[in-house]
Amino acid sequence: MARCGVDVTLLLVALYALLPAITVADLQEGFYKSNTNCSVDVEATVASVVQQYVSADRGVGAGLIRLHFHDCFVKGCDASVLIDPSPVNPDPEKGSPSNGGLRGLEVIQDAKRRLEGACPGTVSCADILTFAARDASNVLSAGAINYGVPAGRRDGLASAAPDATGSLPPPFARLDRLTELFAAKGFTQDELVTLSGAHSVGRAHCGSFAQRIRPNVSESMDAEYGAGLQRRCPADAGDGVAVDQDQATAGDLDNRYYGNVLAGKVLFDSDWALISENTTRRMVEDNAADQARWAAKFIDAMRKMGALDVLTGDQGEIRRFCNVTNSG
Ligand code: HEM
Ligand SMILES: *[C@@H]1O[C@H](CO)[C@@H](O)[C@H](O)[C@H]1NC(C)=O
Ligand SMILES: *[C@@H]1O[C@H](CO)[C@@H](O)[C@H](O)[C@H]1NC(C)=O
Ligand SMILES: *[C@@H]1O[C@H](CO)[C@@H](O)[C@H](O)[C@H]1NC(C)=O
Ligand SMILES: *[C@@H]1O[C@H](CO)[C@@H](O)[C@H](O)[C@H]1NC(C)=O
Repeated sequence: MARCGVDVTLLLVALYALLPAITVADLQEGFYKSNTNCSVDVEATVASVVQQYVSADRGVGAGLIRLHFHDCFVKGCDASVLIDPSPVNPDPEKGSPSNGGLRGLEVIQDAKRRLEGACPGTVSCADILTFAARDASNVLSAGAINYGVPAGRRDGLASAAPDATGSLPPPFARLDRLTELFAAKGFTQDELVTLSGAHSVGRAHCGSFAQRIRPNVSESMDAEYGAGLQRRCPADAGDGVAVDQDQATAGDLDNRYYGNVLAGKVLFDSDWALISENTTRRMVEDNAADQARWAAKFIDAMRKMGALDVLTGDQGEIRRFCNVTNSG
């Protein structure tokens, strides 16, 4: 009996140790360095394309960070978010309301075009997107947020709008729903709070927070800030009107978001929700107080996001064009 118990325990310990190891081992930092197909440095190529676009418009960098989140939370980091509607697949993820306002896709397309020139059929769109989100974070944070990206992802074969709608949080989500959606992908409340700091860059279209400023400014919003939003987002504003998320430094990825949350100067219910309970309010306060610690946690959470449900080995494919699967 005792002997059997020991064996079972050892087996369980061995299995437990293997599980995370398999996930990590499937992706590899410097994955393309040893690939003899490529005459160029793959990661440096992506970085220089990102640098070029982001120096022309920092908002594109914000778009790339959001794209990474929207890719990885839906069927894993498999570039499924990039698929365009086509006769065989008329309603891909892009068609979901959750994916309104996506931008930065031209950066991925441009990097892919260059890499297909240098080493055809070799670099996945899923890896390009993950590298690009890291590079954008690096540029927008002035180097504070930089990290190695394990690679070897393959591109997915499917993309369906309902998957995005079901997995991505809407801006009106409250804390319990946000917690649930992040937990479904293995993320803690602290990681939810940490990643939400990405809302210190980029923009949002008026429709995503309209119910917080009209007819009246929500009690959870700073009154003056709300009045400013009412002016920038008139009731008859078209779908194209957008405002900066962080009105002071919309192009800088930093911990200012948390100060904004505490001051009631954030756009979404989902931003405010982070201080709707004491446990998460405390996390917001900690991040507001310590830029370096937040940046370190943001890096960990981004790397973790980049490993979500990846396809590797001979799964999926290497797309020729990032917006369409090879079979059309
Ligand atoms: C916690 C739940 C979240 C909700 C409800 C949410 C919702 C939204 C919405 C509605 C927008 C505006 C899009 C537009 O109108 O163009 C937005 C923008 C953005 N989100 Fe989130 N988001 C969440 C978490 C995240 C996470 C985890 C990241 C990345 C780590 C992220 C990164 C961004 C960025 C960078 C933008 C600006 C995009 C741009 O300027 O093009 N968000 N988000
Ligand atoms: C993919 O993108 C290219 C370049 O923008 C475009 O010409 C093509 O029509 C797109 N494919 C689909 C299926 O939309
Ligand atoms: C090298 O490129 C060819 C296509 O030109 C591709 O089929 C093959 O999988 C690539 N090899 C590696 C190791 O990526
Ligand atoms: C909005 O504010 C006005 C003026 O304070 C008030 O009369 C009205 O009842 C409020 N409307 C709503 C929906 O709260
Ligand atoms: C939250 O914190 C406030 C202030 O510290 C305290 O008064 C309140 O009782 C706390 N609420 C809960 C539910 O713990």
